[in-house]
Amino acid sequence: HRVLVLNGPNLGRLGSREPEKYGTTTFAELVGVCEKTGAELGLEVEVRQTDDEAELVGWLHEAADTRTPVVLNPAAFTHYSYSLRDAIAQRTAPLIEIHLTNPATREDFRHTSVVAGVATGTIAGFGLDSYRLALRALTTLE
Ligand code: DQA
Repeated sequence: HRVLVLNGPNLGRLGSREPEKYGTTTFAELVGVCEKTGAELGLEVEVRQTDDEAELVGWLHEAADTRTPVVLNPAAFTHYSYSLRDAIAQRTAPLIEIHLTNPATREDFRHTSVVAGVATGTIAGFGLDSYRLALRALTTLE
């Protein structure tokens, strides 16, 4: 079982990016956590990150064409990217929207997710555990 863990803009800077909000774990460490959790669950996990909306849309097309389940942290694209939403709407397998923080507790502009309505479900507010919980949730859906 292959799973794509896709990450949007600024998440490559985890570790140094606003550590009081996002913690001190680096993106490289996050990749390790996802791969380890995947191995424990019998999933072959591939983690990617991009700051480029077009590249992220392309990865979602690839997932749709290959029926690959996705864990997606859309980062700021969450709040305004209709092209991301339209790409997710084409999904052929479960897709779980995740966030490290709980956007509902933050600035007003973060209270809207334009992708939530086309995701299988959303997990937010649990830090790195948001990724672990999403991978576990995928195993119960397949
Ligand atoms: C985020 C929350 C978003 O509002 C923000 O733009 C991010 C990270 C999170 O994981 O908490 O970049 O998706």
